[in-house]
Amino acid sequence: MLQDTSFAIHPGKLKDNKGDELFDIGSVESLSVQNDIVSVKTKTGEVAISFFNAHTVRITANPFGAATLKTSPAVVGQSKPVELQIVEEDMGYQIKTEHIHVYLRKSPIRIQIMDANGRVIVTEQEKGMAYKANGEVICYKKMESKDHFYGFGEKPGGLNKRGDRMEMWNTDMYAPHNPETDTLYQSIPFFVSLRDGAAHGLYFDNTWRTAFDMKNDPEYYSFASAGGQIDYYVFVGPAIKEVITQYTTLTGRAPIPPKWSLGYHQSRYSYETAEEVRTLVKTFKEKGIPLDVVHLDIHYMDGYRVFTFDGNRFPDAKELVQELKEQGVHIVPIVDPGVKVDPEYAIYQEGVREDYFCKYIEGNIYNGEVWPGVSAFPDFTEERVREWWGEKQRFYSDIGIEGIWNDMNEPAVFNETKTMDVNVIHGNDGDPKTHRELHNLYGFRMTQSTYEGQKKNLQGNRPFVLTRAGFAGIQRYAAVWTGDNRSFWEHLQLSLPMVMNLGLSGVPFSGPDVGGFDFHANGELLTRWTQVGVFTPFFRNHSAISADRQEPWSFGEEYEKIIAAYIRLRYQWLPQLYTMFREAHEDGLPVMRPLVLEYPEDSNTHHLQDQFMLGSNVIVAPVITPKTEHRVVYLPEGEWVDYWNNDLYTGGQHHLVKAPLDKLPIFIKKGSFIVLGDTKENTKEKDDNRYVHCYYDEGKSFAFTHYEDDGKTFSYEQGEWRKTTFTAHCEAGVLNMTVESNGDYQDGKKKTLFIHQANYVEKVFVNDKQIDFTQSEEGILTVSLSE
Ligand code: GLC
Repeated sequence: MLQDTSFAIHPGKLKDNKGDELFDIGSVESLSVQNDIVSVKTKTGEVAISFFNAHTVRITANPFGAATLKTSPAVVGQSKPVELQIVEEDMGYQIKTEHIHVYLRKSPIRIQIMDANGRVIVTEQEKGMAYKANGEVICYKKMESKDHFYGFGEKPGGLNKRGDRMEMWNTDMYAPHNPETDTLYQSIPFFVSLRDGAAHGLYFDNTWRTAFDMKNDPEYYSFASAGGQIDYYVFVGPAIKEVITQYTTLTGRAPIPPKWSLGYHQSRYSYETAEEVRTLVKTFKEKGIPLDVVHLDIHYMDGYRVFTFDGNRFPDAKELVQELKEQGVHIVPIVDPGVKVDPEYAIYQEGVREDYFCKYIEGNIYNGEVWPGVSAFPDFTEERVREWWGEKQRFYSDIGIEGIWNDMNEPAVFNETKTMDVNVIHGNDGDPKTHRELHNLYGFRMTQSTYEGQKKNLQGNRPFVLTRAGFAGIQRYAAVWTGDNRSFWEHLQLSLPMVMNLGLSGVPFSGPDVGGFDFHANGELLTRWTQVGVFTPFFRNHSAISADRQEPWSFGEEYEKIIAAYIRLRYQWLPQLYTMFREAHEDGLPVMRPLVLEYPEDSNTHHLQDQFMLGSNVIVAPVITPKTEHRVVYLPEGEWVDYWNNDLYTGGQHHLVKAPLDKLPIFIKKGSFIVLGDTKENTKEKDDNRYVHCYYDEGKSFAFTHYEDDGKTFSYEQGEWRKTTFTAHCEAGVLNMTVESNGDYQDGKKKTLFIHQANYVEKVFVNDKQIDFTQSEEGILTVSLSE
């Protein structure tokens, strides 16, 4: 039970870590319950307790007036009613639902949230909810020494954010990203907390500049905002996976990406002419390096005017797009929000005429400088503006473009604050707000508009949208790349926890610029980075105008050979990756995972950030330091099999493994399956084979459900998919397998089964029928599977 002390309401006693005076939220003056919402009035404000569903409770507090239950656009899930039982006691109220119990202390107001077994999830003591005279709000929660924190979206530094203070303010951060670089392009005010193997999550639904402090007070962590309400959701878990599923029930899940967008992307700031693009694609073909996408950076435009092509550099954009598409290569052009101020430019004219641009309260359009020079910025908080911009995507979709790259959408502005004047007003569909309040939503709303417009325009084909900026829920619209990194080993290292934390924050489709954006890569760095890229959800090599070129062949044959082999490996692994993307779509779980997600009780995983998992049974342990041919790999409980040579490793231990330049250490859990395919030129090429690898484990039973669909339309939403579940029972040298498929999609794949670790396997049955097998020299058994 909460300790009772009135310390918190001593005027002037409470200070934040800057020494500013804080006022406590105060005491309960009255309580009422309406539509299962418990609300209490304080002297000056209101606190409401509501339940999004059985596993998610929402606390909304406005110290200055009535609490509003409006949400940010991050929140989309349908709430489900719960049954409430409220018991008043002397000191407070017990508010009980089937899975969540809330204790609300009356004076001063303190909130404790427990699960039905009495496990304390969050609690407040001396410190609880507070505010400053200037409108800032803050909420403290007790922290224990054994608490770990993950998520927070796109942040540099380590995987485990215990000991960090982080701010959320979308920022075009060109200075090198360092562990202490705080604000990057995305704001996802959500985290997962792990204590003694049990997890819960907290999402702060506040779009203002927010700060999470897991550092400055040894007994409390806090989340604070420059304005707005204290409005947060607590997800009860208790597994980390359940927390992510609960969080993405609230903020939505990613659609399944078009398969081509999971292939290899090549980019450069910029491929400047159509001829350069043609030569690039030709070189990939000649060298036999797979390629699905070429990105066009800002030089394709006429004076950086969005929705134009430069007539000299790209005289035949449509022809180029079609020609490459026939060869299986998609073009993805960059589209920034800044619209050049130019009275002779149709988009600018339309924007002014129709009142689509962000303005000051006095009515003058806000202008800021970006690539095209002085520009105006569409007010994407307005639905009519999103529709206009969405419709404008036709400029691209009409010539066959299916992917759009949204950049500079923090929005970035070339001035001291790096962004739009915070006093600009957004229309916000009749509820006007300053940019100070809605800044963090600008990229989210732009990307939403791009995605929704493209989706309409593509008539059934899945759009691909890539964004730099975003807010919680961005996974519904786009993949995220992690912005302007550098060709530093440190940035390769930093990218692993960053992408893993994005995944834990509901964003499964992300990746860094492979090879590093600015500064100069070298052969070794590009090779090692490409090896990692094979297993990061988004796989794009991109580099800056001033950096040395870094296409796969840029550093000589020795490196090219290895890089090409690894890009081919990506294509072999696509069926497995695709299955993981289906999982992400269904339950919100990330594709690229930290080990702590799968092994939360193993303390060796709590800070492990230089290796990662693909799904739940594959460990990738890349080399991310120069001139390194060995590395330590931690393998959790169980036994693990080296993907390359089938050597067996015992788990629960660290191993020193050899990893010369051409080797990316990959381990598969014994007693599991992976499903791979053929390597190919790109995803357009015929894709007939599936190689089902079963890692035999004597005495064990295990299963894996593999997913297929057409890879390009939304027909999967109508049941046009195929799920094939492989089940293995391994007993006394007999492998008994069942293969069971369901769904309306006929995948027509020829499936071959490979049985690894099969030294003692004598018989193989598939769906009760004994099957002949052949045995390779390495002891792998091969069986043909027909449905
Ligand atoms: C920004 C982007 C980068 C792009 C450049 C030019 O710096 O982050 O990826 O290449 O702008 O458009």
